[in-house]
Amino acid sequence: MTDDRTPPTAQGDEPEIVLDVQDAVRHYPLRRRSLREPRRSVHAVDGVSVRLRSGRTLGIVGESGCGKSTLGRLITGLETPTSGAVRVGANGTPAAAASGRGTVQAVFQDPASALDPRMMVRQSVAEALGGVGRDERDRRVDEAIAAVGLTPDFGSRYPHELSGGQQQRVCIARAIVGEPDLILLDEAVSSLDASLQAQILDLLERLQRDTGTAYVFISHDLRAVRQVSHSVAVMYLGQVVEQAPAEAFDRGLLHPYAVALRSTEPRILDDGVEPVERVVLRGEPPSAVAPPAGCRFAPRCPIVEDHCRRVAPDLVEATPGHLVRCHRPGDLTLSGVARADAGTPAEV
Ligand SMILES: Nc1ncnc2c1ncn2[C@@H]1O[C@H](COP(=O)(O)OP(=O)(O)OP(=O)(O)O)[C@@H](O)[C@H]1O
Ligand SMILES: [Mg+2]
Repeated sequence: MTDDRTPPTAQGDEPEIVLDVQDAVRHYPLRRRSLREPRRSVHAVDGVSVRLRSGRTLGIVGESGCGKSTLGRLITGLETPTSGAVRVGANGTPAAAASGRGTVQAVFQDPASALDPRMMVRQSVAEALGGVGRDERDRRVDEAIAAVGLTPDFGSRYPHELSGGQQQRVCIARAIVGEPDLILLDEAVSSLDASLQAQILDLLERLQRDTGTAYVFISHDLRAVRQVSHSVAVMYLGQVVEQAPAEAFDRGLLHPYAVALRSTEPRILDDGVEPVERVVLRGEPPSAVAPPAGCRFAPRCPIVEDHCRRVAPDLVEATPGHLVRCHRPGDLTLSGVARADAGTPAEV
């Protein structure tokens, strides 16, 4: 993120809030084999609160199964929270009521399955627009197709005549044509090769500068997330364990899980790849059916103390805009990751 990506504000006012998630919980009940068996559920999202303003991007990262897509489905109103509230758009509409009405749109990983193979590109994009007059519809569809970098002749092509990157551009055209306040991108560039990824990320940044749409950008790929996000939330077992400005990921991460995740991403420098010490976490994430008592990361944490196993830490603000859920924030450091003075021995 660079300063020129910061959206303009009227007389220094903050841009409006277009996503407000308050203590959202989504549990999936498990089927019981007998009535005597206790009721159990998967704690997919377990008390997430995030806010996002117009023109900004919130990144969400974390291992497979940590709840990223479930949070995405709550944000797009495809599912309702078990408890808590998810409001979208400048009017703060509950996400479930806004779903399908154009306030919030989504782009997923596999563009081929998102597009109807029998529909020409123009029809697919127009379908996302809903009830507007024909001239208005044609104009907006043309604009959306041009905005994603496709020439007008693509309008009369079918999905099978397009490359994966072109198909994803059509999905993005569908998402932007109704001028939503918010777009959820769930692994939207993950299946594209590196150069196509770069093109699509540049496209998303340009569209955001032009339209002020906010993005929630979910990905396994921390590097892609850092490139497009203003703020990044790191999830672990259904909870946010750290949320920080993208710059903090170069140095200044505070949660041991976030430091470990960051350490798996090599830093590409102009003259090669800088080796970064890796924190290899032992074991798999514990079951989301029975999350551990105390800190959920304690069973895998390299700097765990007794206290961590007993008492669950709260998510607290370390500095403005930087939140962390840890009893020992900042205590796990790595040369080249958390500290500027590369060469210092890692403490693990
Ligand atoms: N419909 C469902 N019914 C039961 N459990 C579910 C359902 N959807 C998700 N889960 C469970 O909820 C947890 C979170 O899943 P989710 O798909 O949100 O993770 P994710 O972070 O998006 O993972 P990935 O990186 O693999 O996409 C997992 O344990 C998953 O098995
Ligand atoms: Mg997912």
